Amino acid sequence: MFQARVPETEDKPSFYRELAQQLEGLLHGETDAIANAANTAALLFTTLPDLNWAGFYFLRKPDELVLGPFQGKPACVRIAVGRGVCGAAVNERRTMLVEDVHAFADHIACDAASRSELVVPLFRGEEVIGVIDLDAPIPSRFDADDQRGIEAIAALYMKASDPL
Ligand code: SME
Repeated sequence: MFQARVPETEDKPSFYRELAQQLEGLLHGETDAIANAANTAALLFTTLPDLNWAGFYFLRKPDELVLGPFQGKPACVRIAVGRGVCGAAVNERRTMLVEDVHAFADHIACDAASRSELVVPLFRGEEVIGVIDLDAPIPSRFDADDQRGIEAIAALYMKASDPL
């Protein structure tokens, strides 16, 4: 049985190094993209403090994201590329770190409690195939260390998983 542990570290880079090791163990020997997304979302939600949502959206058409495995409240199912923080991450092919969602004009509020957000694109080679989305109920929850840490988690997820 896999036991998720909250890393007890003094700094965020070490926290994310330990989390990445846990994820490698959790995904080892499994290549199913949905199963791996479900376990990745569960690991993120149970170990990262101060989150109210953690999950995946996948591009199921060239211009539309569709909700994937997640933890948290039920969420918006379809997001057009270019809309919201998730759609912007796909459009711009880069991580979106939003310190205050109220100040992000096009933010899509799935959970009214969300105050800050981190969205990391999933790359298969040059192609963006979806995103990992983290929401927090406090402003400025995420910083550059979280961004680097979740980008590494996204890369591990992609390396472990077959195309959808
Ligand atoms: N806030 C996101 C929508 C997804 S939910 O947060 C789960 C956005 O603006 O794209």
